Amino acid sequence: MTTAPKPHASGLDHELIEQLHTLAQRVARNSYSPYSKFKVGAAVLLSDGSIHVGCNVENASYRLTCCAEQSAISAAVSHKGPGIKIRAVSVTNLNGAASMPCGACRQTLLEFGDTETWIFFPGLDGVAASAPLSALIPFGFKLAHD
Ligand code: THU
Repeated sequence: MTTAPKPHASGLDHELIEQLHTLAQRVARNSYSPYSKFKVGAAVLLSDGSIHVGCNVENASYRLTCCAEQSAISAAVSHKGPGIKIRAVSVTNLNGAASMPCGACRQTLLEFGDTETWIFFPGLDGVAASAPLSALIPFGFKLAHD
């Protein structure tokens, strides 16, 4: 008898989580990262089921660099408009390194995230890790708007 795999804590199918990871890996190949050589990709799953990807785009003036998560979120808003809700994000890199979303990306994710939002990333021990957004940015800053 075969037993069905336990559902992920996010409630998302394992195949969908894997698909997000594959898409993030694929877009990481387009990374423009001549300075850090750190190739990052992100795939954002919206609550409507659509998936949007982005990679990091660096700049000679280092602080103007756009992280992969931010590129993917910009793509999602560009395709779907301002009302997007982020259900999940898979972040990865082609360097075989741990890469949790940076602080700025956590704040950017919070802009379109809610209590249902989950983040998938390569953890410190090299093993795939995940956490709800609320754990990555507790007491995050939000402003009410129409
Ligand atoms: N980077 C991302 O794309 N996402 C993150 O969450 C962390 C850092 C990028 C920015 C820069 O191009 C490179 O990784 C090294 O910091």
